[in-house]
Amino acid sequence: MNINNLKEKLGQKVTIGAWISNKRSSGKIAFLQLRYGAGFIQAVALKESLGEERYQQLRHLPQESSLKVTGLIKENNRELSGIELEIEDFTIISEAIDYPITPKEHGVEFLADNRHIWIRSKKQHAILTVRNQIIKSTYDFFEKEGFLKTDPPILTSSAPEGTTELFNTKYFDEEAYLSQSGQLYLEATAMAFGKVFSFGPTFRAEKSKTRRHLIEFWMIEAEMAFCNHNESLTLQEAYVNHLITDVIEKCPEQLKILGRDLESLKNACGEFPRIKYKDAIKLLKDNGFDDIEYGDDFGSPHETFIANSYNKPVFITNWPIDIKPFYMIEDPTDPGTVLCADLIAPEGYGEIIGGSQRIDDYDKLLENIKKHDLNLDAYGWYLDLRKYGSVEHSGFGLGLERTVAWITGNGHVRETIPFPRLLNRLTP
Ligand code: 4AD
Ligand code: MG
Repeated sequence: MNINNLKEKLGQKVTIGAWISNKRSSGKIAFLQLRYGAGFIQAVALKESLGEERYQQLRHLPQESSLKVTGLIKENNRELSGIELEIEDFTIISEAIDYPITPKEHGVEFLADNRHIWIRSKKQHAILTVRNQIIKSTYDFFEKEGFLKTDPPILTSSAPEGTTELFNTKYFDEEAYLSQSGQLYLEATAMAFGKVFSFGPTFRAEKSKTRRHLIEFWMIEAEMAFCNHNESLTLQEAYVNHLITDVIEKCPEQLKILGRDLESLKNACGEFPRIKYKDAIKLLKDNGFDDIEYGDDFGSPHETFIANSYNKPVFITNWPIDIKPFYMIEDPTDPGTVLCADLIAPEGYGEIIGGSQRIDDYDKLLENIKKHDLNLDAYGWYLDLRKYGSVEHSGFGLGLERTVAWITGNGHVRETIPFPRLLNRLTP
């Protein structure tokens, strides 16, 4: 039951299971912030109606104790939820002793060590609720657009995004990798079903310790047969627009708890500028960035500067062929560059989508696989797709955690997933 459902119970008597997340009281009246699973509600207890003994019992219950509460749902417009619960009766289920996360400030490492309970706090609860909404909105969007969800494997023998960031594992006697991207498999399912998408965990053994990098992150990938690069960009634009408007509509309480600036989110909607990599380099150089040359990847100050110059998500297209993966198709109108784009989110959240049109010619793909020194045995099946009815096709991957970070206005990806895997963290 989410907070809106409890709102539907206005004027009715309910019994809910809940935890005490915060409280304050005087001799006669106690205010308990209750977390009832999907939401938070303020509950009010009066000594007069509970009697002295029961009132003192409730008032002194420690933070995070669990209880069942019965009472009337009343309107209270000073509350974010618009409602409150007037306690008539309660049963204590379990008293929590010395809950370590108190309402005072805690250090980052302390909170990370306590992630298993930190997720109960109001801000974390709001971020993860928005994450859930983005996942739901994703399924809605792709269903409406006629996509079929197909699930790529996690254990693979291929490395679409380069061989330097792989997690190796044994697959009986063979060498296997944890998936970096389901893309190659989606290209196969796209040739069977036309338009497909996937949502799953991906793994990158990146030695990066930034607020945008996770070792294990979740990606939404889409692949479309009979689709060129520009058509793919238009779909990406519609998808991101859909996510923003859906979250604004369906998660108003959460965005308020998080203090998200709604104006800049709304401003991000609409058409996204499409600029070429070489023009982005020029823009940076013209503005005093001496540390970047044509052929370099952007660092986060570069991405932030570009995004701030437009105040919208920006597609950076036509990257140099040498710094992009083997499967991207060269732009016939701009040789030396590929038909690809990174979508950079505004407000310094960095790249949220990477996508491209794929090589559909057998010989060209074979040449690239050899040029990149990839193991041909592992890519025979991928080459097959170019043998039997090969067509123009494009696709993209959106990083869920970076998107959640941006939409919630939360600075670090470690708070956008229940249990982040970071360079120095595998527990909890
Ligand atoms: O740009 P990437 O590497 O693209 C691909 O993997 C393509 N094969 C996708 C496709 O075309 N089907 O990754 C896609 C997105 C990035 O834009 C970023 O949002 C996210 O995945 N991402 C990460 N998020 C968190 N931590 C990391 N270490 C990430 N690496 C990529
Ligand atoms: Mg990328």
